[in-house]
Amino acid sequence: MPGEVVPLPVPEPSPEERPVLVLDCGGQYAQLIARRVREARVYSELVPHSITAAEARSRRPRALVLSGGPASVYAAGAPKVDPGLFELGVPTLGICYGMQLMAQELGGTVERTGVSEFGKTDVRAEPESALFAGLGAEQTGWMSHRDSVTAPPAGARVTAGSPAAPIAAFEDPDRGLYGVQFHPEVVHTPHGQEVLKNFLYGVADAPPTWTAAAVIEEQVERIRAQVGSERVLCALSGGVDSAVAALLVHKAVGDQLVCVFVDHGFLRKDEAVQVVETFEGHFHVPLVHVSAEDRFLARLAGVSDPEVKRKAIGEEFIRVFEEESNRLGELKHLVQGTLYSDVIESGGDASVAATIKSHHNVGGLPEDMEMELVEPLRLLFKDEVRRVGEELGLPERMVWRQPFPGPGLAIRIIGEVTHERLEILREADAIVQEEIRRAGLYRELWQSFAVLPAIRSVGVQGDERTYGYPVVVRAVTSDDAMTADWARLPYDLLETISSRIVNEVPAVNRVALDITSKPPSTIEWE
Ligand code: XMP
Repeated sequence: MPGEVVPLPVPEPSPEERPVLVLDCGGQYAQLIARRVREARVYSELVPHSITAAEARSRRPRALVLSGGPASVYAAGAPKVDPGLFELGVPTLGICYGMQLMAQELGGTVERTGVSEFGKTDVRAEPESALFAGLGAEQTGWMSHRDSVTAPPAGARVTAGSPAAPIAAFEDPDRGLYGVQFHPEVVHTPHGQEVLKNFLYGVADAPPTWTAAAVIEEQVERIRAQVGSERVLCALSGGVDSAVAALLVHKAVGDQLVCVFVDHGFLRKDEAVQVVETFEGHFHVPLVHVSAEDRFLARLAGVSDPEVKRKAIGEEFIRVFEEESNRLGELKHLVQGTLYSDVIESGGDASVAATIKSHHNVGGLPEDMEMELVEPLRLLFKDEVRRVGEELGLPERMVWRQPFPGPGLAIRIIGEVTHERLEILREADAIVQEEIRRAGLYRELWQSFAVLPAIRSVGVQGDERTYGYPVVVRAVTSDDAMTADWARLPYDLLETISSRIVNEVPAVNRVALDITSKPPSTIEWE
């Protein structure tokens, strides 16, 4: 109708504009809480417990979560939070230490009762309460506490109890305050994720919109806004991070992106071909493929010290990369696959753009490059990068590739690196990969690979005495590479691997298995 004013639709805020803020009170699980919230498809960020109420309010959070922590809330120097946070009208969940902190700040009491709880604990919950809605009265919660809440915050109702902690959960819907003594974020709490979802969806009214598709849409917009019509450079390594980062940028600005793939010759069998086929062949990303094995081998001639090797490879990598980027002319932006865990570790803020990080790793880029970084993975945990990769259509092999060191096979040849040894190790390693995949174990293992110590031992094949290389099979399980356990691979699988290697790789006459964990060993042999 003429004259009628039709209001413009108000756009829904993107998930990142309304984060759940997880306040890190020093617990080992703070990062895990942030990940679990995201698994519920709600965007979350980890922030220091010292965040002020004003800072928190400016982020327009959907909810706050106070993490656990090792301290006693009443101990001197224990992490505190700004009491103003509880006046913001933002739904707040305290977990373990976080719950105790809320009780202490808000008129309840926390005491050392002399009874502690560690491990799986029976919890009697009130199914009508907000956090336990839809769950039975008999729950199991994973506990780890010495102190207990002995009176809830003024006005809060107790909604769960355990034998040693009669106040195992409380809630005050009027003020939006919730607390649980157990850890809903760990897998040992069977319905922990449901408790978190009850809080996020039921209490905080946060929509589950943080999906791979939403991440892609948001990042594409941001990249366009940052890059404009300028050209962008990206170093591809064959790993999932640089691959996903490159594809996001390509989706955003198309052929303004040029990728440089420095192939040092130390990749595994077929990996280099796969990078070229995927990026150039399938996604039509402009790609400069530099086959530089000869240069790298020349640089490594006579080198067997592991650190000298690493340094030489790192320096050569930078040299080749610089030559190529100079050839490409003026490029203003450089893509870097920084992840959210890197941001957290360096104490950074996800919303602040970084300058080039100086780490002496292969693929570590020159420190004096005057380029603006494009970091489309800066908000993502590794599993989210993989989901985005899948959504973008990256092949399964690249998305789920086990971690692989920058210097590649060069640090899995113990001794001098030569073309012949590389070929031997590549073939033996391919057999390990193939058999581990065939056994369905590839994704369960953190890493699995072959190592070639450049020594020889005596064997006999047919009627002939042989003098060949041994190959060591290394397979580990781990969560973060800080510690690792040697994997108990089935004997049948080991037998297949061993007989295939000695039959198919003529230079090898012996296969050994590495049965040490980290510590005292490391995952790699160098
Ligand atoms: P270690 O051998 O120290 O390895 O237990 C821990 C993790 O780091 C990887 N690693 C490297 N990654 N450049 C890398 O990019 C390197 O020089 C390097 N050395 C070890 C290793 O594969 C494992 O995942």
